Amino acid sequence: MKSMSNNRNISLTDYNSFRTSAFAKFFCEPQSITEIKSCLQLHAAEDKLIIGGGCNLFFTKDFEGLVVHPLLKGVAKLSETADWVDVEAMAGENWDDFVKQCVDAGYAGLENLSLIPGTVGAAPVQNIGAYGAEAKDCILEVKTLNMSDLGLRSFSNEECRFDYRESFFKYNREFLITSVVFRLYKNFNYQPRYKELNEELSMFPSPTLQQVRDAVITIRRRKLPDERELPNAGSFFKNPYISKEKVEELSGNYPNLPVFPTADGNSYKTSAAFLIDKAGFKGVRDGNVGTYSKQPLIIVNYGTPNGKNIVAFMHKIQENVERLFGIKLEPEVRIL
Ligand code: EPU
Repeated sequence: MKSMSNNRNISLTDYNSFRTSAFAKFFCEPQSITEIKSCLQLHAAEDKLIIGGGCNLFFTKDFEGLVVHPLLKGVAKLSETADWVDVEAMAGENWDDFVKQCVDAGYAGLENLSLIPGTVGAAPVQNIGAYGAEAKDCILEVKTLNMSDLGLRSFSNEECRFDYRESFFKYNREFLITSVVFRLYKNFNYQPRYKELNEELSMFPSPTLQQVRDAVITIRRRKLPDERELPNAGSFFKNPYISKEKVEELSGNYPNLPVFPTADGNSYKTSAAFLIDKAGFKGVRDGNVGTYSKQPLIIVNYGTPNGKNIVAFMHKIQENVERLFGIKLEPEVRIL
């Protein structure tokens, strides 16, 4: 653990993939639940912030409290039958290393979520998703430590209140996720759910788990910027929900507007990338901030250390999209 006595005023630049500059008043990297507890007890009066991979947040100012970067590691099989296996992964495990282990072992369920940056512990918070799959589809249980009273509590899938990029944990930040239990399957039959992935796999009559993982990796590498070269936090905005009336209003001018009906049948999800693109913000650069040329939903940092510049650019996109479409884009990334 970063020594308790020497953990003041730590730079957070390396702990957010946008690489904005900020300092934490206190910082610790505990390697066990016991270490987390002692770190929390030592700084009981401080505000707390938990950072996983730092891939879905950025800083606009210093954090005047305790930043905890848990380094809990380990993956264990809890139980299995002929059909499924329950696997517990500790929160500090790298997400994609874990997905790779599952695919290598022949356990199905997480392959569409290959190459998503971040840690296992962050996955339930915003219910990460890609190519027609979401983490919630495989999460059985989320184990947590309540930072207010240091009690341990496990949440069932239902108690996590998952939704599109949503969960209970987003609004109840006192729960530090220590591990996640996944139910994965031993038999795999590819289910076509996402056009772009189906196309990438079209040469395989019956794709294997590994082929699906490879295809997802190929698509992501083709389309998404590598955060080590162009700092970013993935999709910056959520895809918005719109009403049936709105779809009718827009489809005259924009016959190609992507619309996906939701389960309740009353609203539709549309594509934020499409709206940003049509508002003229694809591959646009404004000072040291811009949208990525191949996927305008991603804001990239060309070198500003100041998160406020990212926020200003975000507002510009929101205003232009709202003026043109009457739709307010909500950030998916956490702004601190
Ligand atoms: N589009 C454009 N112009 C572009 C790019 C895309 O109009 O330049 C439109 C197209 O109509 C395209 C549609 O946007 O069909 C959807 O694009 P894409 O398949 O890339 O998906 P997305 O909705 O933009 C979501 C997730 C991604 C995830 C992909 C793949 C959100 C906010 N984002 O993006 O997740 O990888 O689907 O499933 O839901 C992330 O959350 O950080 C992330 C990268």
